[in-house]
Parts: sequence; structure tokens; C-alpha cells
Amino acid sequence: MVLIDGKKTSQDIKNEIAFRVAEIKAKEGKIPHLAAVLVGSDGASHTYVNAKVKACEEVGFKSTLVRLDADVSEEQLLKAVEDINNDADIDGLIVQLPLPKHISVDKVTNKIKPEKDVDGFTPANVGRMTLNWPAYVAATPYGIIELLKRYEIETAGKHCVVIGRSHIVGSPMSILMGRNGYPGNATVTLTHSKTQNLPEICRSADILIVAIGKPEFVTGDMVKPGAVVIDVGIHRVEDASKKSGFRLIGDVKFQEVAEKASAITPVPGGVGPMTIAALLYNTLQSAEKKVFG
Ligand code: GUN
Repeated sequence: MVLIDGKKTSQDIKNEIAFRVAEIKAKEGKIPHLAAVLVGSDGASHTYVNAKVKACEEVGFKSTLVRLDADVSEEQLLKAVEDINNDADIDGLIVQLPLPKHISVDKVTNKIKPEKDVDGFTPANVGRMTLNWPAYVAATPYGIIELLKRYEIETAGKHCVVIGRSHIVGSPMSILMGRNGYPGNATVTLTHSKTQNLPEICRSADILIVAIGKPEFVTGDMVKPGAVVIDVGIHRVEDASKKSGFRLIGDVKFQEVAEKASAITPVPGGVGPMTIAALLYNTLQSAEKKVFG
């Protein structure tokens, strides 16, 4: 069984990015710059955004964090996005999700200039990805694609089952795995809350990508011997034996699934760190005008 090490792979990518940043700085004096907008005080969102800002520092990027109160109006948020759109020094813009209920995620996403949409959430980038054009691909699916590539996982002709159809992970993942290219050329089944016979479908998967958001949902009996299993979930559970009082688990029951899988991502240290590396990579691409020209 191969343990797919997202922590090490993301560090490799960050080293590659840092090297490129030093080159651009020396040649053009330009420093890639990511702006993150954080609304409200959701604990997980704070943790994620802080990790993104810290990762920017690690690779030599500039970063700007715009914090807005939870009761900010939709109009004020749209104005903040517009200001960043118009700031020539900023290459990438992300608005951390979820947003408070009174704000339309669709409206805010659609306000982001596609050329700066390093999260790959805008209709323009989703469309471009679907057409197999140069695009910013959402960071989590992009990170998974990079893991499959760097671990030389065969995908052509394989049955890839994706659990979960969110706009952030499952839906783009299903499109990427079905694209004509590598990784891709898989026969894809996208499953969701209305899917019948899910365990049976999972057992037919050569590649199982789990993004359902339920702790230890996938058990050993749902996995075909030799399958490749990618776990996108991350959940805190109480654990008195830990100093922090908790430990992290995924959407996959790791021990029993690892016994059957040919390769598997752990939680933590699998997909999570790759998401940040992919976001940094997209921002570098933007600074180098590689996607939209
Ligand atoms: N919330 C959960 N994942 C993400 C992500 O990749 N980007 C943003 N902006 N918000 C998120």
C-alpha cells in the first residue's frame, strides 16, 4: 500500500514556487500578490485563511487580508471585491466561503474578475475548465490531480467514483477525471445524496474520491481490493489522549480502508496541504499571465 503524502508533495510544490518567485523578482522586480477576503468570525475559515497567508510568506508572495464583520452588507462586500479587481498590484483574489446567509455567494463569486479568480469558482473559469481550455482550477480538485500525477496513478479507462457533488470539490473533480488528458480519461460516476446502492457503486471503483463531509463514512467493505482512495474530508473529534483534546479524521475509515487500498491519502497530511499549494500555484500562474495571457 502506498501512502500518498500530501504534506511532502505540497512542500515540494512550495519549494518549486519559491524558486520561481525568486527568479521573477530578480528579473522583473514583480512579487506575486494574493488577496483574501474573510467575512465574519467562523473558526474554521479563520484557520484556513491564516494558513493561506502563512503559505504566501513561505514562498515569498505578498498577501493582503481584508477582514469584514459578519454583518457587512452585500453591497459593501461587492465593493471590496471590486477594489481588489481594480488593484493592479494584486494577482489573485479569494473570498473565503462560507459567507453569512444574507449574502449571495453567486453574486459575490460573479463579481470576481476571472483573471484574478485563483479559486477557480467563477462561471468563466468553471466553463473554461469544462472545455479543457487554460483555466484556474479550484484548489482542492487541482491538488488531487497533482497528487495523482506525481504518484503516477493510472487513470485512463479506470472507473472513478466521486462521492459528493459540491461546486468546490465533487463537481469539478468529476469533470477533470473525465477529461481527455492525464490525469483523466476515466469513466466517471458522480454520486450524491439521491444515489441508490452507493456501497455497491463504491465497490466497483478503481479510484474512489470521497468528498461527502461525513466522518469515516467510507468503510472497508465499500472498497475494492487495490483501489486508489482519495479522502477530502477533515473533521475534529474529541480525543482525551491528545494534548489539544482532539484529533483529525477524514471521510474514510482509514485503518480498514488502507488494508484494502493500493494507495490512499491520510488525514491529516493528504489532500489538505495540497489545496494550499494549488492556490499558490494558481496565484503564480496569474502573476505570470499564464492562463488568460
Ligand atoms: N471554503 C472551503 N474551501 C474553500 C476554498 O477552496 N476557497 C474558498 N474561497 N473558500 C473555501
